[in-house]
Amino acid sequence: MTGAPLPGRIFQGIPRFFHELYRELDEQGRSYTPLCQDKTRLLLLSGAEKAFWVQNIWLNPFKFEFDTISEAANALRNIQRNWAPVLFTQFRRGALIQEKLPALPDRKRPFPWKAPDTPMGCWTLLDERTLVASPCCTSAFPGGIIEFEENKTDPPSRAYLKLWEALSLAGTWPQKGERCIDAGASPGGWSWALSELGAQVLAIDRAPPEGRILDRAGVEYLKHDAFTLRPEDLGKTGWVFSDVICYPPRLYAWIEAWLASGLCKKFVCTIKMQGPSDNESVRRFAGIPGSRVVHLHHNKHELTWFLV
Ligand SMILES: C[S@@+](CC[C@H](N)C(=O)[O-])C[C@H]1O[C@@H](n2cnc3c(N)ncnc32)[C@H](O)[C@@H]1O
Repeated sequence: MTGAPLPGRIFQGIPRFFHELYRELDEQGRSYTPLCQDKTRLLLLSGAEKAFWVQNIWLNPFKFEFDTISEAANALRNIQRNWAPVLFTQFRRGALIQEKLPALPDRKRPFPWKAPDTPMGCWTLLDERTLVASPCCTSAFPGGIIEFEENKTDPPSRAYLKLWEALSLAGTWPQKGERCIDAGASPGGWSWALSELGAQVLAIDRAPPEGRILDRAGVEYLKHDAFTLRPEDLGKTGWVFSDVICYPPRLYAWIEAWLASGLCKKFVCTIKMQGPSDNESVRRFAGIPGSRVVHLHHNKHELTWFLV
C-alpha cells in the first residue's frame, strides 16, 4: 500500500445544492479540482479554506492505492475507529470495505443530544484500487448527516428538526424557564420544540401558530411583524430564534440591533434564500465574532447562523 497526503481540503457538496457551492467558489475566484472527472460531488481545494454551501469539509485528506478489501479496511482501522463511507462509485466494493470496519451507530438520535468529541472520518473510492480518506472533518456526524427520532404527532411541521440539529451542533439549548423569542413562529414547530425543553416562548408571527401550540404551557403569541419590533420593545431574553421568510439583509439589520442592545446573547436564525443565494449577506453574518454559518442536514435552500 502507498499513501500520500492531498494538497488541501475536500469540500463535500450538498446534494441538490452543488450549484450553490460552485457559485460561492466562483464568486471568490477560488479554483478547485473535482476529485473524479465525471463526478463533481467532492472538490479538492488548496489551502485551509472554508465554504458555507457544503455538507462537510474533509480537513486532512490522503489517497492510497490498495489491492485487497482487507488492506483498505486495515489501513483505515489503524488510524481510528469511526469512518463514514461517502461513495459515488464502486458501491459493492465500498460496502465490503465498510463491513470490515467498526459499525457506526445507525440508530436515530434523541434530542437533546450532544455531538461527541471523537473524530469522525470520511472515505470514498475513486476506482477499484484507489481510496481517498480524511480522519478529521468539520462535521461530527457521519458524512455530515444526522437523523433524529422524530415526533410525528405533536409538532405541526418538521421544521423543528433543523432547530434540534442547530442546538445539537451548538452543544447547548434553552434551559427550563429561560425566555426565548421565536420570530416567524407559525405553524409552531420551533415553539413546540422550545416549550418541550421547558422554555418560556414568545412566538411572534403575522399569522397565528396552530391552536395546540397556543395551548401549550409556556407559549405566548404576539401577532406582529417581528422586524418592526425593536429589542427594547421585547426586553431581555435568553435566546432569539428566527425562521422568518425574508431577504437576508432584513434579518441582518434586526440581529445587528439585538447585538447592539446587549439584551440577548444567544441566537439561532435561518438565512433564507429567494432565488440565487445572497452570499454577500451570508459573509456579513459569518463575520459576527464567535458565530457560525452552516448548511444543516435539515436545511433546504437556506443556511443557519448561530451564536451561542
Ligand atoms: C418557515 S415559516 C416558520 C416555520 C416555523 N419555524 C415552524 O417551526 O413551524 C416562516 C414564517 O415566517 C412568518 N413571517 C414572514 N414574515 C414575517 C415577519 N416580518 N414577521 C413575523 N413573521 C413573519 C410567516 O408568516 C411564516 O409563518
